[in-house]
Amino acid sequence: MIITIDGPAAAGKGTLAGAIAKKYKLAYFDTGMVYRAVGLNMLIHGYPLEDENSAEKLACELTFPQMIELSKMPDFRSPKGGKAASMVSAYPKVRQALLKMQQDFALNPVFEDGTPASGAIYDGRDTGTVVCPHADVKFFITATPEVRAERRFKEFQAKGIDISYDEVLKDVKARDERDANRASAPMKPADDAIIFDTSTLGIDDVLQKACKIIDTKQKNS
Ligand code: DC
Repeated sequence: MIITIDGPAAAGKGTLAGAIAKKYKLAYFDTGMVYRAVGLNMLIHGYPLEDENSAEKLACELTFPQMIELSKMPDFRSPKGGKAASMVSAYPKVRQALLKMQQDFALNPVFEDGTPASGAIYDGRDTGTVVCPHADVKFFITATPEVRAERRFKEFQAKGIDISYDEVLKDVKARDERDANRASAPMKPADDAIIFDTSTLGIDDVLQKACKIIDTKQKNS
């Protein structure tokens, strides 16, 4: 079984994907990691983020193990790393270069320790529309920018990252703008996606509803 969860930053995709992965024993691919890896690698090499050709080169060379190594660095999930990821993800050639690696995971899903899984759950922005258009179940999770900024702000605070709520909100809105308006694979729900708004629904309610949909799909297949 292949499940996709798309939606904007800090909507609750990761929490939901993690819970579903655990319950249904699915391998989990957080596809934001491929863009974070390329963005961080640009910073490490000292390339300007506007340098699309270098970003494409680094995207073409990226391997799964290299992505895992980069993910251990502090800037991988910092505001700086997030901005770099957002900028490189807007380049069509970068998206194209990273597509096969994401799609291959569905053909051969594995858990973190390398053991094979019977299916996969993806989270990202275009996993139901571009990466896995034939997924069995597709969700789109959203929430207002203010609710999402509050969540990100608390996450940064817990990690000791010095940033104000207003800066986080500004960044969330800038990322939404880039995600929604990029030329290649702009973020939007797939036509057959089920949409949840986590500004009004608690994550436990969303999980319960999502599980019902997955169970029905499994029974009917
Ligand atoms: O989900 P995240 O914050 O880790 O994603 C990092 C960046 O990558 C974000 O700005 C959007 C982009 N992204 C994307 O364009 N497509 C995806 N499938 C996943 C993430």
